[in-house]
Amino acid sequence: MNISANLLKFRNGKIMKNRFMLAPMTNTMSFENGHLSDDEYKWLTMRAAGQFGMVMTCASHVNEFGKGFPGQLAIYSDEFIEDHKRLAAGIKEHGSLAVVQLHHAGMRSPKKLIGRDPVAPYDNEEYGAVALTLEEIAELKNDFIEAAVRAEKCGYDGIQVHGAHGYILTQFLNIDENRRSDEYGGSIDNRGRIIFEILEGIREKCSKEFLVGIRISPERSGMELCEAKYICQKIIDQGFTDTLDISLWDSFKYPYDEKYSEKTLLEHFQEIDFKDVKYSVAGNVHTGEDVIKVLDTGVDFVAIGHSGILHHDFPAKVMEDTEFKPIEPPVTLDHLRNEGLGQKFLDYISRWPDFIKK
Ligand SMILES: Cc1cc2nc3c(=O)[nH]c(=O)nc-3n(C[C@H](O)[C@H](O)[C@H](O)COP(=O)(O)O)c2cc1C
Repeated sequence: MNISANLLKFRNGKIMKNRFMLAPMTNTMSFENGHLSDDEYKWLTMRAAGQFGMVMTCASHVNEFGKGFPGQLAIYSDEFIEDHKRLAAGIKEHGSLAVVQLHHAGMRSPKKLIGRDPVAPYDNEEYGAVALTLEEIAELKNDFIEAAVRAEKCGYDGIQVHGAHGYILTQFLNIDENRRSDEYGGSIDNRGRIIFEILEGIREKCSKEFLVGIRISPERSGMELCEAKYICQKIIDQGFTDTLDISLWDSFKYPYDEKYSEKTLLEHFQEIDFKDVKYSVAGNVHTGEDVIKVLDTGVDFVAIGHSGILHHDFPAKVMEDTEFKPIEPPVTLDHLRNEGLGQKFLDYISRWPDFIKK
C-alpha cells in the first residue's frame, strides 16, 4: 500500500487526507470547570500539524454529572462553545478532520468529582450508582444528541459516540448486569437500544456533511463476541453512521473467549458487512510495520494512541519511512514535553510502569 498517497473518502463526501487518526485520549489537561486549556489545545493541534488525518479529542462529557476524570474537557452546555470553536479551528487549520468524542461515564463518574451519586442503567453498589428512570434515559439520549449539534455548531467535522470501555453505553450493553425489565434491558436489541436511538437522533439533527461515528469495544464489555458483532452490524444496517471504530486494545490478538479463538478479533470483525461505513481499529498499532499490516487487511484507517503520545508527527514519520519505529519507553520527561504534553498529562501517565524515565 502506498501510504502517503492514500486519502479516504467518507460516504458523505468528506475527505480524510490519509489513514491515520489520533485515538481519543483522556489527558486531564483541561480546567476543572471543563473549559479548554492551552495545554490541551497545544497537545491536539500539534498532532494535527504532525499529519494525523483525523484528530479525535479526549472523551468529552455530555452531562455535567457524567464527568469521568479530573481535568476533562466538557461539551455539555453552550458555555463551552467558544472553547470548542477554537479547538476545532486549530485542528482544521492543518488540514485534519476535527472530531470530538462524546462521553458519559455513568457509574464510573467518581462521586468526589460530580458531588452526587452517579447514575447508571441499574443500581450498582460498588460505585453507589442509582438506576436511571425512563425519563432520565430520554434525557441522557438528548444530552448526546445536543452535544453533537453543539459540536457541529463549533465547526467540528464530526463526532464519535463513546460506546466502549465500560462507560454508560457499555453499561447498558452489559448482559450480566443490565437486568432492566423495560425496553432498555434484557435482549441484545433492548440493551443496544439507547445507542441506536442516539445515533438516529444525531443523524436527524445534524447535517448530512457531519460525520457520525461510534466506538465499540468487543471484549470485557459484558457482551459475548457474537453480540458485539451483532451490535456493530445493526449500527451499520441502521444507516445513521459514517464511521465505526473498533477498540481492540491489541489489533493482532485472538479473543480471550476460547469459543471464538479460531481466528483473531480483527478477523471476526471483518466478517461484518460494513457497506459504505468506513471502519478503524485501535490497539497496539505502534510501528510503521503495524500500520501497514493492519491496513493491508482492509481496515480503512488506524487509530493511534501510544505512538501519537511519543511522536506528535507519527503519521509524517511513517509516511516518510514505513519501517519507522517509535522511541522505546521509558522516555524522558523532556522528550514528552517537547512532544507537546503538558504537566497534568505527564502526571497522569507517570503512573504507568516503565513509560517515563525515573
Ligand atoms: C492516556 C490514554 C487515554 C485514553 N483515553 C481514552 C478516551 O478518552 N476515550 C477512548 O475511547 N479511549 C481512550 N483511550 C484508549 C485509546 O483511544 C486507544 O484505543 C488505546 O490506547 C489503544 O491504542 P494504542 O495501543 O495505540 O495506545 C486512552 C488511552 C490512553 C493511552
